[in-house]
Amino acid sequence: MTHLAKDRDWWRGAVIYQVYPRSFQDSNADGIGDLLGIVRRMPYVASLGVDAIWISPFFTSPMKDFGYDVSDYCDVDPMFGSLADFNAVIETAHALGLKVMIDLVLSHTSDEHPWFRESRQSGGNEKDNWYVWADAKPDGTPPNNWLSIFGGSAWHWDTRRCQYYLHNFLVSQPDLNFHEPAVQDALLDVARFWLERGVDGFRLDTINFYTHDAHLRDNPPLAPEDRNSTIAPAVNPYNHQHHLYDKNRPETLEFLRKLRGVMEPYNAAAVGEVGDAQRGLEIMGEYTAGDDLMQMCYAFELLSGTQPGAQDVAGVMEKVARVAADGWACWAYSNHDVVRHITRWGLTSPAAKMFTTLMMCLRGSACIYQGEELGLTEATLAFDDLQDPYGIEFWPEFKGRDGCRTPMVWERSNANGGFSTAAQPWLPVPGEHLQHSVETAEADPGALLHHYRRAIALRHAHRALAKGDMLDMHAEGQVLSFRRVYQGEEVFCAFNMGEDAVEITLPHGDWLPIGLELNSAHAGPDGKVHLAHWQPCIMLHTASAG
Ligand code: BGC
Repeated sequence: MTHLAKDRDWWRGAVIYQVYPRSFQDSNADGIGDLLGIVRRMPYVASLGVDAIWISPFFTSPMKDFGYDVSDYCDVDPMFGSLADFNAVIETAHALGLKVMIDLVLSHTSDEHPWFRESRQSGGNEKDNWYVWADAKPDGTPPNNWLSIFGGSAWHWDTRRCQYYLHNFLVSQPDLNFHEPAVQDALLDVARFWLERGVDGFRLDTINFYTHDAHLRDNPPLAPEDRNSTIAPAVNPYNHQHHLYDKNRPETLEFLRKLRGVMEPYNAAAVGEVGDAQRGLEIMGEYTAGDDLMQMCYAFELLSGTQPGAQDVAGVMEKVARVAADGWACWAYSNHDVVRHITRWGLTSPAAKMFTTLMMCLRGSACIYQGEELGLTEATLAFDDLQDPYGIEFWPEFKGRDGCRTPMVWERSNANGGFSTAAQPWLPVPGEHLQHSVETAEADPGALLHHYRRAIALRHAHRALAKGDMLDMHAEGQVLSFRRVYQGEEVFCAFNMGEDAVEITLPHGDWLPIGLELNSAHAGPDGKVHLAHWQPCIMLHTASAG
């Protein structure tokens, strides 16, 4: 058991490993990963020292958005296995001391969900109001200017009801109407269903999209200089609006409170995904304030397109301290929606190691996306290999999300990297990934994989790093520094986030170097620390060294 396991606050500072089930491990040779594949590889996940596993959606789905379009919230898609297989996931994870967080996609369903099928029948059916239906304007055009992230208007005309329905993502992902109390009740039942099956928490997809403006007001335009593409690619006109009315509505808080009430007796934790290019951190502050909303929100700031420097990281952390002082962030560099960070930021091996160490020293929880611990790069795929509708829509300026979703590589010599014995997996395994397989990395003491294990272990060894306050945030040139403090333990952290060697002075006091296995620097007799490029310096205050 990890030492956080029995803690009611287990989520605070936890390290969460994200599994994208389609691409983790195939156990039945159909070229698609599944739940029994996750069971098989669970010891590997546990060997990283993480606290929890987040499994992207495995529910019944027509897979238009690869599981983020759910047609039955309370069952497993046959492609991934069965409810019995899910029980095995829970049992195996718990036996290894891992918490299980599942990915609930409550903002929208698939258009094949029975709720939507019923709702779209014309005239006064029981689920009439379960989705966001609206009449056309007198000229037949959609009711307002809202846009879908995946391209085009957020409204789709339905010929049965002769009305438009709202979809923030694909046309086949109609948006549930959270203004309807029966919808909220049904979704809370979904959460109860999985809590009863033993899950320890949720990753909640797109929580700031739950409620829309009941008056359907137009979003105002954004000035070109204010556009920011952290959640939608630069070529997407979704970035041209200030999303005041299609999401981020205050009524969402009421639902989050009810959901937290359902979770409380189970000691479950949630990380809510907040996608908003302008107000993401402020919304995180709103959703994680106090004890009756979300414990954590998933932040997009470190999923940025360009490599963050010391000033950028300090800026983000200072803003969090200001607008979400009472809240808790969950950081990630990579996930199933963005270009893998090794490629996105063009990281060398020392830089990748330093960013890993940095993540484990930041205040917040941390999500690691499968394969990043191997240093996997973004795969380059041919248009014919694309599966992601988002990429197909915006190709070639934006190539979609398939490049980060290619299968995990377990073995070097196996054609599909040990992922599947099928002739052709659902996405190809890039040849260049084979040299980064788990098998190869295990045998190489210098591999990034071991660095991840050591960095996670350091975070667990020092509660100040996992749970502490973050003080004295400084960015001077390319050096970022701060202190983490928790119940008398104090750790000083500095990171040389650049290519040149630098010298820093330790804060006043006596310090003991820790994290030497992470290449953390020693102080000289004069108290100065020489930092080589991409080198961290992590020091424990001796008064707290016990
Ligand atoms: C998920 C995406 C998904 C979208 C719609 C998200 O932010 O991470 O993969 O396409 O929500 O459900």
